[in-house]
Amino acid sequence: MATNVNAAALDESPVPDAVQPKQQKQTVDPYNVSGEVGEDGVVKAIDYNKLIDEFGTKKIDDELLARFERVTGKRPHHFLRRGIVFSHRDFELILDRYERGEPFFLYTGRGPSSDSVHIGHTIPFEFTKWLQDTFDVPLIIMLTDDEKYLFSEKRTIEEVQGYCNDNAKDIIAIGFDPAKTFIFSDFDYVGGAFYRNIVRLSKHITLNQARAIFGFNDSTNIGRIHFGSIQGATSWASSFPHIFGEDETKTVGIPALIPCAIDQDPCEHCAFLTIAHTELTRADFRMTRDVSARLKYQGKPYAKPALIHSLFLPALQGPGTKMSASIDESAIFMRDTPNQIKNKINKYAFSGGKVSIEEHRQFGGDTSVDVAFQYLRFFLEDDEELEKIRVAYEKGEMLTGELKAICIRELQRYVSAFQERRAKVDDETVKLFMQRRPLKWGGNPRAPIVVPKVEDGDAGEAKEDGEGKMTKNQLKKLEKLRQAEAKKAQKKAEKAEQAAAKTA
Ligand code: TRP
Repeated sequence: MATNVNAAALDESPVPDAVQPKQQKQTVDPYNVSGEVGEDGVVKAIDYNKLIDEFGTKKIDDELLARFERVTGKRPHHFLRRGIVFSHRDFELILDRYERGEPFFLYTGRGPSSDSVHIGHTIPFEFTKWLQDTFDVPLIIMLTDDEKYLFSEKRTIEEVQGYCNDNAKDIIAIGFDPAKTFIFSDFDYVGGAFYRNIVRLSKHITLNQARAIFGFNDSTNIGRIHFGSIQGATSWASSFPHIFGEDETKTVGIPALIPCAIDQDPCEHCAFLTIAHTELTRADFRMTRDVSARLKYQGKPYAKPALIHSLFLPALQGPGTKMSASIDESAIFMRDTPNQIKNKINKYAFSGGKVSIEEHRQFGGDTSVDVAFQYLRFFLEDDEELEKIRVAYEKGEMLTGELKAICIRELQRYVSAFQERRAKVDDETVKLFMQRRPLKWGGNPRAPIVVPKVEDGDAGEAKEDGEGKMTKNQLKKLEKLRQAEAKKAQKKAEKAEQAAAKTA
């Protein structure tokens, strides 16, 4: 079939073994993501509609997006407009709360398993930052160093803790607001209110349930079996008294909105999850939702976490594959030089173009499998420009080389902007983000009723001593970061104004 011809083969790009498809069904779970492989050995794109059906989540449709725009006064992010963030659980309830001025928070995380961060890692964080800017709410970022130790045969505790610091820097470089962002490592933060919630959650999960959800067996180490309660307990606001206050009758009702890739949310009953279940391990937020629904604190029900799911950025090798931090040829890394980016795209990016120029001019390219085009869907914000490219490529007016050149330009821009910000993040900044301290956020400025925000009551004042107190240096740094953010926002607004004036 014409569309299956990989024109990138013209560059004689070898497909690295580790991402080479064997014939198989579509599998998506915390440890495996691969598209269905047909009899012809060609990987199909991941069928996300099928995922929605099988996971029992809801599709983010035009109606929800219209409501989002009404409620926030902000145009939906291009990930939302393009179906990259495509499914959710209870997102509408979060919009209800936002509308009423009621508190909620954002929660996401990363398993610090390597210091090679790639563009597939940064995507969910980019979106999270946008949500934080849009809703003006606290964000909690969990670094699951314990998970990465428990789920690897080789890694040492020292190794994963080392990655933590580096990964935190990468995350901070996305541009999160230090006044509203708390980053923590499990090894450091477990204890106190958080540990109480971990134990509370674990008490309500039986081994039978854990087996059914995660596919554990008798040889699974018990740390893995328990880990889900740690990841789950982070969705409860009462795990963070320095942010939400000590009064659990108030905090118990504050939900988390968790942006994550769909693989974090496997369904217990999905027959199609045929992968080795022994390796299927990450905590299931659906389990946390189920437990939340059963729990009460002094008669008050626990808020279930809401979820918003994004799809994966495919590896360079094409649709149905996922970038791997340990396979250099599979991904564009945030450390890559402009030249490396250019070479990787030219050499490895799976093309939807035809084998010869003549054929391509006649039949056009297939954007649905073309990696350069797919990356542009993620990284090129301008809808009109993207549409022009799509049409030109599909008609055969634009050649693969031309499309790749645009993709290279956009990725170089994205990566170098990141590198500039990353160079400014030092150990002191990391300490600041990881400090237990009250956060400051505004919520919905248009909310009709002002529901007392928790930070005004319990967590509003910094603790005078102990861990809540920031050093003068940290306060200075915080102020500096805040000013830099404000300046950036102003510049952006000015630029947008100029652009609007130009087109007017
Ligand atoms: N387990 C995730 C990982 O290995 C990290 C994580 C923790 C996470 N909590 C999360 C990811 C919430 C998304 C949302 O990467």
